[in-house]
Amino acid sequence: MPRLFGARTLVTVLRTGNARARLRAARDGQAGVRLHVAAAGLATGVLDAVADGAGSTPELARRLGVAEEELLGAFLAVLAAGRLVRGDAARWELAAGGRAVVGDDLVRATYEAFAGFHTGLYRDLGDLLAGGPRRRDVAEQGAVVARVSAAFEPFVDDVLREVVAAAPPRRVLDVGCGAGLQLATVLAAAPGAEGVGVDVDADAAALARRTLEQRGLAGRATVVQDDVRRLPRDRPFDLALVANVVYYLPVEERAALFADVAARLAPGGTLLVVTTVATPQLFSRHFDLLLRAQEGAMSLPSVDELTTALRDAGLRPREPRRIAPGAPLVAVAAVRPS
Ligand SMILES: C[S@@+](CC[C@H](N)C(=O)[O-])C[C@H]1O[C@@H](n2cnc3c(N)ncnc32)[C@H](O)[C@@H]1O
Repeated sequence: MPRLFGARTLVTVLRTGNARARLRAARDGQAGVRLHVAAAGLATGVLDAVADGAGSTPELARRLGVAEEELLGAFLAVLAAGRLVRGDAARWELAAGGRAVVGDDLVRATYEAFAGFHTGLYRDLGDLLAGGPRRRDVAEQGAVVARVSAAFEPFVDDVLREVVAAAPPRRVLDVGCGAGLQLATVLAAAPGAEGVGVDVDADAAALARRTLEQRGLAGRATVVQDDVRRLPRDRPFDLALVANVVYYLPVEERAALFADVAARLAPGGTLLVVTTVATPQLFSRHFDLLLRAQEGAMSLPSVDELTTALRDAGLRPREPRRIAPGAPLVAVAAVRPS
């Protein structure tokens, strides 16, 4: 291959005085392009169409109902350069990289979330700063948020099993139970226990009922669609979970929510809070901004704010601990004094 450029050119480029920032900008830009290539491959159905069966560009255009065959061909060439598909206009098939994306819901949800609302926040930031309407990601993208959150399930499950092993509960309350995954984990780890999941969102409550049914736990669990604060206070619980819920509440309402849950615990019972917290890490700062940009008054709590709110609720918080490598995810158990 002929020589591309001389050593003198390289030195000139590196001596621009801002080579590092220029390289970083180019690298960030390329990562952004890669993110959107995969996300568009999923959103347009092109990757799924190729996964359904290899085909030529015209054949895929027909299957997808695409009008612009030439653009589709160029996009398939992009997907090939990104190693998601391979082949040429006569026959495209899925590459190993494409199979790993198409066949894994966590990967799919991650591309969807990051090419969507996670980066949409910054595309709309100018309008937001100018006083434009707040975002509705949390209200409208609950399903994607839940699918992405599945990445942390193994770490949360580990903590739940540990808490159950330390003091096997007889009655468990899962506040803001979402899809019911944590309640299912606790009930599976505590075979004698019964549980109540509560969620204000009708879809979440339906999903939780389905999870418990599928895991053969429906006989020991009840799911209520309501605000936890409206639940009747009858038989006390020995364990309550509040996982990934606090940051949706205004700061001034958090201690009151904990107090409400604490009042539902038997003396000596435990409230386990799992939440992303405010730290200087980029993702934590980003998530906090995303929450603050929503309708409502949402924000990430710091660890200190969290433990203060638990104390204000009359509970005795233990030492909070980080539960997932590199992520600002914290679990803190707080005991209702006997
Ligand atoms: C991000 S989801 C977390 C779901 C689940 N706990 C998890 O960690 O996967 C938060 C859930 O809390 C529910 N929620 C928020 N405030 C609530 C309240 N006061 N009472 C009951 N559910 C609430 C929301 O509807 C939502 O489904």
